[in-house]
Amino acid sequence: MTAPRPLVYVTRMLPEAALEVLRPHFEVRQWTQEETPVPRDVFLAEAASAEGILCLLTERIDREFLERAPMLKVVANMAVGYDNIDVAACTARKVLVTNTPGVLTESTADLAFALLMATARRLPEARDVVLQDRWRAWSPMFLTGQDVHHATLGILGLGRIGRAVARRASGFGMKVLYYSRNRSEEAEAETGALCRPLGDLLRESDFVSVHQPLTPETRHIIGEREFGLMKRSAVLVNTSRGLVVDEDALYRALRDRTIWAAGLDVFESEPLSADSPLRTLDNVVLLPHIGSATIATRTQMALAAATNLREYLLRGKPVSPVNPEAME
Ligand code: NAP
Ligand code: GLV
Repeated sequence: MTAPRPLVYVTRMLPEAALEVLRPHFEVRQWTQEETPVPRDVFLAEAASAEGILCLLTERIDREFLERAPMLKVVANMAVGYDNIDVAACTARKVLVTNTPGVLTESTADLAFALLMATARRLPEARDVVLQDRWRAWSPMFLTGQDVHHATLGILGLGRIGRAVARRASGFGMKVLYYSRNRSEEAEAETGALCRPLGDLLRESDFVSVHQPLTPETRHIIGEREFGLMKRSAVLVNTSRGLVVDEDALYRALRDRTIWAAGLDVFESEPLSADSPLRTLDNVVLLPHIGSATIATRTQMALAAATNLREYLLRGKPVSPVNPEAME
């Protein structure tokens, strides 16, 4: 009699190539809806016998979940950010957490730059004018925006994605400033970015683009005080996590024209609620968390998550562990 294979639970439909990484080795159970996250009660029930979970940022891995998952060895997140996971609680239970760094860097930087440009040049508004038959004539100051070329870009978090955005900015002749916990001379040499304290960066920048992870330290790092330091012509771009910016303070800053506009891919609560006041503003561009959403990149992310899970359960050697101390 052959021993039963370890059970792995996958929380959404994935590209077939990623499932093929898992199927030869594990019994794979799966939530098979495309766009609806697995309900919490189903997820908790599936946890009971799973040795591995391949999840998305829509799933919360917390103490309650871990208590219901006595056999769990690994949580493979299909995202680079892992603020949906209580990593300390996982480590305490010797549950390894993995993420998908690198494979999504360039696609996310493309989206951040696209959002910066769409916001600066008011592209969604301009499209609406055409589609709603409100285009009367070429007019001198009609739909005028902010110049991107040769402007100053302030980057919060000059990590993988922050650097990739800085490289794009140099093609537009922009001056690039950055703020991070640690100064990186190597990143400065690669991108030409200049290190600034946060207050100076906010005062000097025409565009501020956020690329830090969400942590207790970065939560609401941009709030009312910070908007007060920014130029009235400034544009904020957030493709990091919604909670890095105080959304109520952002709404007031946009409404009162303390800053000029914002481009947002991420929100404090996702999906954005139907009654969010942000929806009432004409100086904000809203996207549904699509930073890494290209066919190639999402496929690579799914493959990376599946490979992490397989390599840890079969060989104890994950590719990108978040808490390697859980393996000790
Ligand atoms: P990364 O390479 O780890 O870069 C993060 C940067 O933030 C690092 O430079 C880090 O530098 C800095 N940082 C961390 N904590 C900080 C703090 N408390 N104060 C100031 N700076 C801090 O990560 P990445 O791959 O670029 O990804 C960044 C984030 O983007 C992810 O965590 C995720 O939330 C988000 N993301 C969003 C999408 C999307 O679809 N919108 C897609 C991918 C990623 P130091 O450690 O030197 O401070
Ligand atoms: C997406 O938001 C990610 O963190 O990969």
